[in-house]
Amino acid sequence: MSNIVLIGLMGAGKTAVGRRVAERAGARFLDTDKEIEREQNMAIAQIFTERGEAGFRAIETQLLRDLIVRSDAERTPRRSLSVVLSTGGGLPLREENAHLLRRIGHIVWLRARPETIVERVERKVALRPLIADYADDLLGRISQLQQERYPKYELVADYIIDTDHCVNPDQAAALVFDHWKRHVATPRHHDRS
Ligand code: S3P
Repeated sequence: MSNIVLIGLMGAGKTAVGRRVAERAGARFLDTDKEIEREQNMAIAQIFTERGEAGFRAIETQLLRDLIVRSDAERTPRRSLSVVLSTGGGLPLREENAHLLRRIGHIVWLRARPETIVERVERKVALRPLIADYADDLLGRISQLQQERYPKYELVADYIIDTDHCVNPDQAAALVFDHWKRHVATPRHHDRS
């Protein structure tokens, strides 16, 4: 089985990039937030309001467990890419989730500087509960999340791609796909039988 998991802060481009990587590879694209909204029949912001952040985090973990059950049933050869999974920004922080993500696939962190993130999320602040109340100091809030989260993303990631200089999601998607082809899809000697 070969899957790619994209992690990173909100606004890093996980969804837009993930969709394009999947297109290039002929793989399936999944987004944890979208899966959760579909299963719960509620927007993420509404889940935060009704169940709190702890309730949302529990749903995220359950989704990963379910995906593993499904992907075990869909084992594919190493050289073909099966699923590209984009994850919510807080998902890799729980230790259990980090273990589950490792079982799901090759983890690529789409890293970006806080200034870049601010440019990308500015117009959609209201949809994101963790920054919704910080419209007046978005850079401060994003920098705080960066300090809390980047060391953890670094521990979880198999590979890091800096996206600050990518002019669009296609360019970042090309970097992810190229990395996957060179370092994951191409078997090393001991993989050949
Ligand atoms: C969150 C990021 C969001 C979503 C939720 C919590 C976070 O996903 O899962 O609002 O903790 O950073 P995106 O990273 O796709 O915006």
